[in-house]
Amino acid sequence: MGSLPAIPDSMVESLRSSEHLCVLTGAGVSAESGLRTFRDALTGMWAKYDPMSLATPEAFERDPDLVTRWYDFRVGEGGKHTPNPGHHALARLEEWMTARDRGFTLLTQNVDGFHQDAGSREVVELHGTIRTWRCARCSTGYTHSGRPFDAYPPRCERCPDGVLRPNVVWFGEMLPEEAIERAHDAIASCDVFISIGTSGVVQPASSFGEAAGARGAKVFEINLEPTPLTARADASIHAPSGLALPLLVDRVTA
Ligand SMILES: NC(=O)c1ccc[n+]([C@@H]2O[C@H](COP(=O)([O-])OP(=O)(O)OC[C@H]3O[C@@H](n4cnc5c(N)ncnc54)[C@H](O)[C@@H]3O)[C@@H](O)[C@H]2O)c1
Repeated sequence: MGSLPAIPDSMVESLRSSEHLCVLTGAGVSAESGLRTFRDALTGMWAKYDPMSLATPEAFERDPDLVTRWYDFRVGEGGKHTPNPGHHALARLEEWMTARDRGFTLLTQNVDGFHQDAGSREVVELHGTIRTWRCARCSTGYTHSGRPFDAYPPRCERCPDGVLRPNVVWFGEMLPEEAIERAHDAIASCDVFISIGTSGVVQPASSFGEAAGARGAKVFEINLEPTPLTARADASIHAPSGLALPLLVDRVTA
């Protein structure tokens, strides 16, 4: 059995006294739920594809069958897994903060909906969600049933030529305006910022930690390995977030 990660006292103290905490999460937070990050090798029928090349409007335009199958597969994978102790610890931390009338914003790049499933309330989905889809032509919205579509690409019930796409933000697309505004508000008002399970290479989220730090917020990181934010952070925990977050939140809320 591995040893438990050390939780820096400075992190615990900063969180305990924070008036507005801003948390940014990435695919690493869901890794221990069994959902693969983009940088992990894919297995099975998807092994030969680069997910980065499937997550673009051009790929959807060129091959809607392939792209909608890939997202349908990801919805199916989500249905087979559940939030892990890291998601639950963040929901617990939010509850603790809000019970004390303090601000808490969770910015996520994840599209799996696991933070909400774990009970987080103030979640800003920067990259959208795979749980709802829309017609690429008329924008009619659909909630994914969780079961595979009958045919690919899935078609709109309202307009015969319309093809459905997930409500995610693809590379090259704009982030939802409301999400980006809420993110900027949180970064402008937080006194503590924590980046968790994100490689810090996808913009604009990769600049959030730097921006919060430049304004005077304490910056922390939890990741398996160092990232571009590590050198800027006041302290880092290099360990699985599903292990580190419950330990951290236990100490903050004790
Ligand atoms: N679950 C999801 O919703 C999901 C899954 C895959 C990719 N994505 C998308 O991937 C894009 C890439 O950005 P990203 O930074 O989120 O993901 P990423 O794949 O680029 O990076 C994942 C990061 O998590 C770290 N990590 C892996 N396992 C971890 C663990 N158990 N604990 C802590 N850290 C861990 C890795 O070291 C890496 O730095 C985003 O646009 C996001 O929307 C989302």
